[in-house]
Amino acid sequence: GGAAIAQKPLAGKHVLVTSGPTHEPIDPVRYIANRSSGKQGHAIAAAAAAAGASVTLVSGPVGLPDPDGVTTIHVESAREMLAATEAALPADIAVFAAAVADWRVADAAPEKMKKGPSGTPALALVENPDILATVAHRKTGRPALVVGFAAETENVIDYARAKLARKGCDLIVANDVGGTGVMGGDSNTVHLVTRDGVETWPTLAKEEVASRLIAHLAGLTGVSKAG
Ligand code: CTP
Ligand code: CA
Repeated sequence: GGAAIAQKPLAGKHVLVTSGPTHEPIDPVRYIANRSSGKQGHAIAAAAAAAGASVTLVSGPVGLPDPDGVTTIHVESAREMLAATEAALPADIAVFAAAVADWRVADAAPEKMKKGPSGTPALALVENPDILATVAHRKTGRPALVVGFAAETENVIDYARAKLARKGCDLIVANDVGGTGVMGGDSNTVHLVTRDGVETWPTLAKEEVASRLIAHLAGLTGVSKAG
């Protein structure tokens, strides 16, 4: 009946979510990382599952349990995250909540680096693949709805608009990560940025941001009106 469908607006849909940081090796015992906790991305995966979707969560290293009812694939580096993400396609909706490391060490050392007379090592960095842009620009098999995040410390809306255009996604969830402890914290203040405009939500628990975002995406796909 209609009520059951309204409660599971994403039944029959595959939702792909990336979450957490990536770890980029320097040598076998050291890595470059960032402060992402994965809380927002994991909450989105859980909310999508609660909405009836089949969910694949591609997660970097986080201290969180795998959400119930979600297929979780664990990766470490950005390149592993890209490979796992592409392997999980096709998807109806893809949400890129991971804080992917922008750079990796060009030549990670095969053995632990040692102090010595040659002095302080210099790390040469190379840019990682952009997972969101790669998926959003696919000629075939592009998810109908591609959603990115933008973590900014200034000019939040302007930078989000630029990212929306550059990456070719349909929606950017922009959040201000300056100061207040959003990264690792339990609440989030977000702006939904599309080509049509900006919708600003009040500060909410990350679980609440997740369920509202999933309801919003279900509305955009029109599937909540099906049946
Ligand atoms: N993203 C990605 N792969 C990358 C970098 C970013 O998939 N290598 C995704 C993130 O998951 C997020 C969006 O792109 O959904 C924006 O990430 P962000 O770090 O804000 O943007 P960048 O393009 O990396 O720009 P910058 O960090 O320089 O602001
Ligand atoms: Ca970045």
